[in-house]
Amino acid sequence: MTTPLVEDTSGLKSGQTLLEVDNLIMRYKTKQGYVSAVEDVSFVLHKGEALGLVGESGCGKTSIALSLLRLQADNGEIMGGSIKLGGKDLVPISEEEMRTHRWNDISMVFQGAMNSWNPVYRVGDQIKEALDLHWPTRLSRAEVRERIGELFALVGLPADAQDRYPHEFSGGMRQRAVIAMALSCNPQVIIADEPTTALDVIVQDQILKELKRIQDDLDMSIIYISHDIAVIAEVTDRMAVMYAGKMVEFGDTADIFSAPRHPYAWLLLSSTPSIVGPRRQLAPLEGEPPNLLDPPTGCRFNPRCPFATDQCRVEEPPLADIGGGHMVACWNYEDVPVGITAGGVA
Ligand SMILES: Nc1ncnc2c1ncn2[C@@H]1O[C@H](COP(=O)(O)OP(=O)(O)O)[C@@H](O)[C@H]1O
Ligand SMILES: [Mg+2]
Repeated sequence: MTTPLVEDTSGLKSGQTLLEVDNLIMRYKTKQGYVSAVEDVSFVLHKGEALGLVGESGCGKTSIALSLLRLQADNGEIMGGSIKLGGKDLVPISEEEMRTHRWNDISMVFQGAMNSWNPVYRVGDQIKEALDLHWPTRLSRAEVRERIGELFALVGLPADAQDRYPHEFSGGMRQRAVIAMALSCNPQVIIADEPTTALDVIVQDQILKELKRIQDDLDMSIIYISHDIAVIAEVTDRMAVMYAGKMVEFGDTADIFSAPRHPYAWLLLSSTPSIVGPRRQLAPLEGEPPNLLDPPTGCRFNPRCPFATDQCRVEEPPLADIGGGHMVACWNYEDVPVGITAGGVA
C-alpha cells in the first residue's frame, strides 16, 4: 500500500481562506505583571499561500506561532480573539479536541529544532514515534519506512538516511529532517519559525529553495517567521511586519519591499544589506525595542520613530487599509519617503 504523501485534507481551492486570525491577544503572566507579546493581531492565510512574519527579536513572532498551536508557555494566556481553521475556532475548544488538530492540521518547524534531535535514537525512529503518536492511520513498520523515505526524498535527503543518528547529519540535513517531520502528518498549514537562521548562507539558500519548491508542488500553505527580511522576501507572497507585539504593516511582499509605508518597516528595510542589486547605504534603526511589561502609550514605535508627532505619543494608530489590501498602522505614513532610495538612504 502506498500512503498518499502529502494529501490535501482541506478540501479548499487555491486562494480560498484556510486560516483566519482575528484580534488575537496573548500575554504572559509574570511576577511583574503581564507581558504584552501578541496584541490584537489579525491576518488571513489562504490555501497555497506563503505568508511572512518579520520583526526584531522579541517582537512576538514565536508567541503568535505557539498560540496558533495552543502551545504557548504555561504562563501564556490567550486573552482574546479567534483562530479559525476552515471556519472552526480553535481558541475555545478543549485540549483533547485541540490534540486532533495539532500536527495533523497545523504543524510547526520550531525555532532551533534541528538541535533538538535526541542523540541516542536513529532519526527515522524519532519520526516514526511522531507518526505513531499523531497520525490517525495505523501503518506497518514497512509502510512507515516507505513513508519516511518518500518524505526524505521530498526534502532532498536519501531514503536510507533515516537509519542514521543525528550526529551523522550535517546541520542542513538535520533541518531537512525537521521539515520532513513537520510534513509527516499531512498538515494543512505549516509554520516555519526561523527555519534557516542557524545555517550558513549557502545551505540556508538551498533549504529555502527546497521549501519553495515543495510549497509550489503541493500547493502548501506556509507561515514563515524570520527576523531576517531577506528570507521573507525570497519565499513569501504576502508579509506582516511586527513591532513590539503589534502588526504594523501588512501587504504584498513586493509592495512592502518596493515602498514600505510604516516608519519601522522603512528603517528595517533600509538597514538590510540587499541580497540582490546595489548595496544600500545603511540607515540607523536607533534605540531598543520597548519593554513589553510596560509598552509606550500611543504608537509603540513612537520613542524610536523619526516621524513621531504629539498624536503618536497618546493615540494608537489603527491598522488601516491604504489601498489594495496594503495595511499600515501609522498616523504619518504619508511622511515616509517612498522607496528605499529616498531620504538619503540611497
Ligand atoms: N514564557 C514567557 N514568559 C514571559 N515572557 C515571555 C515568555 N516567552 C516569551 N516572552 C516575552 O514575549 C515577548 C515576545 O517573545 P517571542 O514571541 O519569543 O518573540 P520573537 O519570536 O519575535 O523573538 C518577548 O518580550 C519575550 O521576552
Ligand atoms: Mg522567535
